[in-house]
Amino acid sequence: MTTANEMNSAKTKPLINLLRGWPNTSLLPVDLVKKASSSVLSNNTVSFSGMLYGPDPGDPRLRENIASWLTNFYRPPKPILSDRITITGGASQNLACILQVFSDPVFTRSIWLVAPVYMLAPRIFDDSGFHGKLRAVPEDEEGIDIEFLYREIKKSEEKAKSDGNNEPKLKPARPWGKIYRHIIYAVPTFSNPSFKTMTLRRREELVRVAREFDALIVTDDVYDFLQWPAGTKARSSSVEKAILPRVVDVDRYLDGGSEREGADGFGNAASNGSFSKICGPGLRTGWVEGTEKLAYGVSQTGTTRSGGAPSQLTATAVAEMLETGELQRYIFDTLQPAYAARYRNMISAIEKYLIPLGMKIPQTDRDVVGGYFIWLTLPPPLKGAAVAKNAAEQNLIVAQGELFEVPGDSEHASFPHALRICFAWEDADKLAEGIQRLAKVIRTMQKDSSGANAAMQPTAGEDSSRKDATKNFW
Ligand SMILES: Cc1ncc(COP(=O)(O)O)c(C=O)c1O
Repeated sequence: MTTANEMNSAKTKPLINLLRGWPNTSLLPVDLVKKASSSVLSNNTVSFSGMLYGPDPGDPRLRENIASWLTNFYRPPKPILSDRITITGGASQNLACILQVFSDPVFTRSIWLVAPVYMLAPRIFDDSGFHGKLRAVPEDEEGIDIEFLYREIKKSEEKAKSDGNNEPKLKPARPWGKIYRHIIYAVPTFSNPSFKTMTLRRREELVRVAREFDALIVTDDVYDFLQWPAGTKARSSSVEKAILPRVVDVDRYLDGGSEREGADGFGNAASNGSFSKICGPGLRTGWVEGTEKLAYGVSQTGTTRSGGAPSQLTATAVAEMLETGELQRYIFDTLQPAYAARYRNMISAIEKYLIPLGMKIPQTDRDVVGGYFIWLTLPPPLKGAAVAKNAAEQNLIVAQGELFEVPGDSEHASFPHALRICFAWEDADKLAEGIQRLAKVIRTMQKDSSGANAAMQPTAGEDSSRKDATKNFW
């Protein structure tokens, strides 16, 4: 039983928000952006082109600079050329653009989302006419249950054949685009929310499945640069080269590559990159990489054709920061160590307070970790919804697993016993305290065996109302 005193003291505890997936304001490179903006605005050639409509694929200087920066980081067998890059308004906006050019809500059989899924992605698919066609693909320890995907995609192909769904009917054929039969959406590296990294083996298998079934794999590669050695005692706090090729890199080299003989040249993978996590989400600037044909196709989205690439002015400033090398240094010298310290602080508290209570984290044997989030599995029968509710009463906000289910398809991927916590937003000195508060909530629930069922089962209607209850904390 919570006493009146305890309730009052809970109310006076400072708010700790481990739900919000934003960078802490102390990590925003304000001075860098100021310097770059002032430099581009002081030069009429650059400022005029930044303040006018730009070319469809985006600022040429930014495309060049991104291409060489990515080449340096991912070290693909062949350098990345700027023809493979189109500038976007960030990963979310570009996902919608990709769907506009490369999908048809009838002919495209399904959207396959690796689940748990980034909670704001399903709406983007819904808006493109895919309501009711979203399918969850569970993860395993390697990052995607590829056998499940293969089996289900095959079934949906057979159904499309028997339904006579053989050609796109809603969207006309256009020389710059194509309509894929399937779209697969994943966050393969330091996933939001599952924290996992998909193994190389799975990335290769995924590309093979996509080729066999004419699928486009769209990966949000937005956390790749935020990485550090996993060990809490590791001496180093930064890792300057990518640990794995992206799915788009795999598609480029595997079995003759995306432009192999007989292939249509669009490829089967698009890498959705963003400056949101490494510079600031307010920039709303990103890039997409794919084959030259795919990158060009994205640049031909109707909204881009009317006015050129989005975020044109911001793009000129980002181009400047990459050209001087200052953004790269900021990532390696400031962001990676800062996030590493936050992560280590939080994971040490998890090991001390939560693991002994029976909580689990995935992929504990990795050398390098990264991203913004940690996924926690609760010991049964504890439910994430009940824990999140009780935590909120202690002024601690965490995200319950159900938020990351695929709407309309939780049969094979449901997460009632999970929580996601973020170490990027909250002030660094509150992270360990947040974990201690969470441990206390869980201990109380575990002890309260007489009221266990009431505490562990969310009441009817709570799941859907939960989103509203936490709305102000997203
Ligand atoms: C997986 C994933 N994709 C996309 C985004 C948003 O990216 P952007 O700000 O570039 O739209 C986020 C932000 O949380 C994310 O976690």
